[in-house]
Amino acid sequence: MRELAYVNGEIMEIQKAMVPIEDRGYQFGDAVYEFIVSYNGRMFCLEEHLDRLQRSMAGLEFPSMERESVRGAILKLFAAAAIPRAGLYLQISRGVAPRNHQVPEAAGQQVIMTIRAVTEKPTELRENGAAVITTEDLRWGRCDWKTVQLLPNVLAKQKAVAAGVFDAIFVSAEGVVREATSSNVAIVKDGVVVTHPLTTHILPGITRMVVLGLCRELGIPAEERFFKTGELYGADEAFLTGTVTEVLPIVKVDDTAIGTAEVGPVTRRLAAELRERARA
Ligand code: PDD
Repeated sequence: MRELAYVNGEIMEIQKAMVPIEDRGYQFGDAVYEFIVSYNGRMFCLEEHLDRLQRSMAGLEFPSMERESVRGAILKLFAAAAIPRAGLYLQISRGVAPRNHQVPEAAGQQVIMTIRAVTEKPTELRENGAAVITTEDLRWGRCDWKTVQLLPNVLAKQKAVAAGVFDAIFVSAEGVVREATSSNVAIVKDGVVVTHPLTTHILPGITRMVVLGLCRELGIPAEERFFKTGELYGADEAFLTGTVTEVLPIVKVDDTAIGTAEVGPVTRRLAAELRERARA
């Protein structure tokens, strides 16, 4: 087992990996990324992550890359690291060029990756659920592209940490509940799972998609529609979904207990089913 980095085709120790200071990802946030995990030595939803990567790159009008070459690079690093429960971060920037807002003609995309053992969320959090706060969504209008422009997410997460809670949920100026800093959000009311529809204001989460698929399979009704903070506070259950987050119960939002303030049956079931599928 070795934690490793990949820079434009070369695998090396993470500490030795460097990018030029004029990388546009570094200077402009002109880069896209994915975070993929493995369970028991098998990458989970790799093709879905590649689909989303292609969508993000097309959104920013990056020159397209051969899907096979990106997949090949990911699998090569994954094999070299041999970490059964790995978290792989992949970033593709528009390339390196003298600083200029105008997009350079040919800057040569920079492909970098790191692979490390996943830091699991504490069992206590999974068993008893998390507290979160809400915060105004100050992000830009294309949150459906997975770009590295994560400053609002970083600041919102830090606000949550300072408040002594797990995470922050972005809410629009009109009170629409969007998503958390690195996860999507769902509520359960009268047995129905409700989550924000796929618009430009949220990331099309892969775990969200898997969980909606599980709902269909298990006969749990699910709706993709807008809901506001009032509905969140009044929900029977709430949970986050994400690649690292998996299905994580929320038991408190701001100062309001969700349902009985205990992990509810729908959340518990979806969390268990997701784990089972991922580990299969
Ligand atoms: N974050 N929403 C946001 C803003 C995210 O950054 C993420 C993922 C998700 C969940 O998407 P998925 O189920 O595909 O992981 C939702 C990754 C894990 C990250 O930033 O590291």
